[in-house]
Amino acid sequence: MGASIDDAHVRGHTPVLYQRVLHALRPSAGGRYIDGTIGAGGHTYGILEASSPDGQVLGLDLDPAALDVVKDRLAQFGERLHLRHGSYAEMAVFAGELGWKTVDGVLLDLGLSSMQLADAKRGFSFRLNGPLDMRFDPTQATRATDLVNDLSERELVDLFTKYGEEPRARQMASAIVETRPLHTTHELAELITRVVKGGRRKIHPATRVFQALRIAVNEELKALEIGLDQTLELLAPGARIAVISFHSLEDRLVKNFFRRESTDCICPPEHIVCTCGHQARLRVITKRPQRPDEEELEANPRARSARLRVAERIELA
Ligand SMILES: C[S@@+](CC[C@H](N)C(=O)[O-])C[C@H]1O[C@@H](n2cnc3c(N)ncnc32)[C@H](O)[C@@H]1O
Repeated sequence: MGASIDDAHVRGHTPVLYQRVLHALRPSAGGRYIDGTIGAGGHTYGILEASSPDGQVLGLDLDPAALDVVKDRLAQFGERLHLRHGSYAEMAVFAGELGWKTVDGVLLDLGLSSMQLADAKRGFSFRLNGPLDMRFDPTQATRATDLVNDLSERELVDLFTKYGEEPRARQMASAIVETRPLHTTHELAELITRVVKGGRRKIHPATRVFQALRIAVNEELKALEIGLDQTLELLAPGARIAVISFHSLEDRLVKNFFRRESTDCICPPEHIVCTCGHQARLRVITKRPQRPDEEELEANPRARSARLRVAERIELA
């Protein structure tokens, strides 16, 4: 493997599960890869290094600021890197525009980047005060403030329950409706802290509500479902998909997708004869999700919840 984790450190960013992702994707010369969430380009750097001299990466991100960073940071790779502003849910379209019918690997490193979290103006962090924004793509219309101020109490309860698995969704939604309009991250975080005062907690009381709003603003689970489906068409036989998720909703979706697509018949169990005609198109490589080891966690505590799942495209029988 050409790239080491130090290569990435030198560039001021520690990609999560870096060596494991490279080990899973096995980049090689002449290969074509899609990094659907290029972020600061840490993983892509490794893929391009390991696929020297002529491997190529199509790098996508919803955040134009990320693409600007990567353009400078990975300028040395010249035309081997194709950067596009857009969602990985449209990866087939972007690949098609390059004339790529199939690819040799796909990486999705989900969620938000450290750059986004650290920028108060983006409104992702309840620790930093900023506008309630949370859009990955600043050209998109809907922001977190629209949801917080315009949804009904019932809709807020559903949102916090579904995307945040927040046990006190009702209390929080009711306090928001009583207090709104809310415009900043601190207004929302302080309101929630007041609502749940007392008790011992492992995480900040606003964690789940912020997660839920971010998922809803960016329609993250919908993008993941569509993106995963597209990989089935794009991956060449033997090519792999690697997905890093950061919470159980994403991980469950990936796990279930891999399970379904690695199974021939998916008829309900009461069917004696198969009528679905479904054929397995994937072989699951990681029977259990891979997690960062102690050394990585020490260097990068934010990697704590990361889980990597990998599957390989197989030929249809
Ligand atoms: C965890 S970071 C990726 C970090 C990257 N692997 C690295 O090594 O620097 C996730 C990135 O995915 C982007 N993103 C989130 N959802 C996306 C989507 N549906 N399509 C494209 N990019 C997306 C975010 O804007 C963010 O920059």
